[in-house]
Amino acid sequence: QDNEQPIVLLMKQQLSKKMYELLLEIGSIADQQSVKIYLIGGIVRDFILQRPNEDIDLVVEGDGIAFANQLKKQLGGNVKSHEKFGTATWTTEENHKLDIVTCRTEYYDAPAALPNVRASNIREDLRRRDFTINAMALQINKRQFGKLLDFFQGQEDIQLRKIRILHTLSFIEDPTRIIRAVRFALRFQYELAEHTFELALNAVPMLKQVSAKRLLREFELLQKENVTLDAVTCLQSLGIWSTLFHREPNEHTMKKLSTIIKEMPHPFITFLTIAYGQKDWHVVIKPYALISEHNQMIEQLIKMEQIDIKNESLSSIHDQLHLFQDDVLYLFAQLTNDQKLLTYLQKRKQLNLLLSGKDLIDKGLNPGPDFSDLLHQLACLQLDEIIQTKDDAVTWLENKVAELPLD
Ligand code: CTP
Repeated sequence: QDNEQPIVLLMKQQLSKKMYELLLEIGSIADQQSVKIYLIGGIVRDFILQRPNEDIDLVVEGDGIAFANQLKKQLGGNVKSHEKFGTATWTTEENHKLDIVTCRTEYYDAPAALPNVRASNIREDLRRRDFTINAMALQINKRQFGKLLDFFQGQEDIQLRKIRILHTLSFIEDPTRIIRAVRFALRFQYELAEHTFELALNAVPMLKQVSAKRLLREFELLQKENVTLDAVTCLQSLGIWSTLFHREPNEHTMKKLSTIIKEMPHPFITFLTIAYGQKDWHVVIKPYALISEHNQMIEQLIKMEQIDIKNESLSSIHDQLHLFQDDVLYLFAQLTNDQKLLTYLQKRKQLNLLLSGKDLIDKGLNPGPDFSDLLHQLACLQLDEIIQTKDDAVTWLENKVAELPLD
């Protein structure tokens, strides 16, 4: 038994004792079942890098779902499986989730399409993966516990600090890997290997064929690493923005973006900020508005472009904009660098109406259109600081009530 490998020490350091022992136990069960089993993906890389990671991905040379069910039989817990992909998630009694899959080869009917899969061996399974640093496996069968399989020089690339794909069609088959490459490069402060960079550059037009949903999802993962600005610059060097939005973010755009993402960290907003400013910004951004909120946002921004508030009082601005949502106004103000709009928005947010619906009812008014109209008028008067106290507001209301036609 060869438990003296340095990587086993790293595993021990980084996994909880429970998880480490669970892996030993899984290895023994795999032996009983005569299947080879491996830890795979990000966690192997992170053992070497000594970065915390408890995402356990296991692959078996054999039937992954059957093996997950065997674990459930012997150790309890629950299994959820997807026959179509040969994948299962085993949730232990202690609520640890472990993904268990069948070694597989992916093949593509068309570039940028989702892959078809068929069962295969560990080498094939590793070969289909994105980057060398993510394509190492650690066997956990008892006798081979801690045996590192590194067919593609992942360790060497960790030393060299390089993100390197495994085969020349990698980005063509899965263009989202271009964004993944940038994510890992920024996370670890690595560089894309020269050839990898060139292939990424060539594959960028393929990103147009990736669904908006997948692209936004990939970008969301990037934003979660808090590297959005660097990522935007890095992706620009690959020509992504001119490909997707016919526009490269300049210094001004980057400045706006740094402000906007603090308040609105959604990838759609990032895309919008980059696309905004050209004549047909709404056309290029539209495919990425996947929720009604974002569609409304586009519509409201288009309307905002027709409104000129430069010489208006706060009350007349309010008259025109009271139906617009805060975040649309905020975004528009930042995109167009409109200080006056920001001031209005701030005042509007701070505004406390001096009268409530109850005050109106007490004066004999019935809830209805008059009601909201009066409250809107009051908001305008307060914004212009014509009414500043509750007493002023009550007097104003009494006069208003007297003016109303009797019904
Ligand atoms: N993978 C891939 N191509 C993709 C997505 C994933 O080859 N487009 C492979 C990689 O080998 C990766 C593994 O699937 O290591 C698991 O994917 P994911 O969990 O996204 O990657 P991690 O490396 O675990 O990333 P993270 O550290 O962010 O969890």
